[in-house]
Amino acid sequence: MWKHHAKLERHSLLLIIGILIVVAIGGLVEITPLFYLESTIEKVKGVRPYTPLELAGRDIYIREGCYVCHSQMIRPLRDEVERYGHYSLAAESMYDHPFQWGSKRTGPDLARVGGKYSDSWHRDHLIDPRSVVPESVMPPYAFLAKKELDYRDIQDKVRTMKAVGVPYTDDAVKNAKADLEAQADPFDAGGTALKKRYGDKVAQRDFDGDPERLTEMDALVAYLQMLGTLVDFKTYKAEAPENLR
Ligand code: HEC
Repeated sequence: MWKHHAKLERHSLLLIIGILIVVAIGGLVEITPLFYLESTIEKVKGVRPYTPLELAGRDIYIREGCYVCHSQMIRPLRDEVERYGHYSLAAESMYDHPFQWGSKRTGPDLARVGGKYSDSWHRDHLIDPRSVVPESVMPPYAFLAKKELDYRDIQDKVRTMKAVGVPYTDDAVKNAKADLEAQADPFDAGGTALKKRYGDKVAQRDFDGDPERLTEMDALVAYLQMLGTLVDFKTYKAEAPENLR
C-alpha cells in the first residue's frame, strides 16, 4: 500500500483526485444527515414572526448599523449568562433574515434587552446616550424621533419574509399595514386582530412618547422592547432533539 502511496504523491493529478475523493466523503458525512432531520432548529414555545412594526424597527436597526457595535447572541458561558440572562437559543433568531448575531461588542449584547428599560429610557438614550449613561460612547440618533416612519412597502417586506420561509399567514400579509398602525396606536380598534395574529403578549402602545405621529423611533423601540422576550424561561426546559434522545 505504501508503494502505491508514493505513486500518488509524485503525480499531482492523481493526488488532486485523491484529495477530492477524501474531502467529498467528509462533506457527505456532515451534510447528508441534514436532509433527514426534520429540522435542525428545536421548536420553542413563544417564538413568533416579528410584527410589521417590529420588522420595520429591525430594518432601521440594520440601516443604522447598530449591529456594528452590538451583538445579539448570548453565549453559554457563565459570565455572559450572569450578565445578560439565559443563553440565546437557535429558535430565537430563526425568523431573522439576515440574522443579527453580530461579531463585535463595543456596546453590550442586546439579545435580551427587551423589557430591561422603559420606552422613555430608550427614547432618551437614542436621542442622546450621554443624557442617561454619562460615559457612553454610543452615537446619538435624535433624528429617529423626528422622522416619520415610511411604511409604504411594509406589505412587500412581510411577503418577502414569507417567501424566504417565515410562517406569516396570508392574513398577516394582507393586513400588514393595518397591524403596523394598530401596534403603535393604543386606541386603535384593530388591536384585537393584531393580537389574534401575533399573540396576546404583543406590546401595543405608543413607543416614542408622541401619540400624534408614527416615527422611526416608534418602530425601533418596539423592536428593542421585544428582543429576547418571546420565550418564557420560567417554563422553558432544554430538551435533546428527538433523534438524540
Ligand atoms: C459606536 C458603537 C455603537 C453604535 C453604532 C450603537 N451603539 Fe448602542 N451602545 C454602545 C455602547 C458603548 C453602549 C453602552 C453605554 C450606553 O448604555 O450608552 C450602548 C448601549 C446601548 C443600549 C443599552 C444596552 C444595555 O443593556 O444597557 C441599547 C438599547 C443600545 N445601545 C441600542 C443601540 C441601537 C438601537 C443602535 C443603533 C441605532 C446602537 N445602539 C448603536 C455603542 C454603540
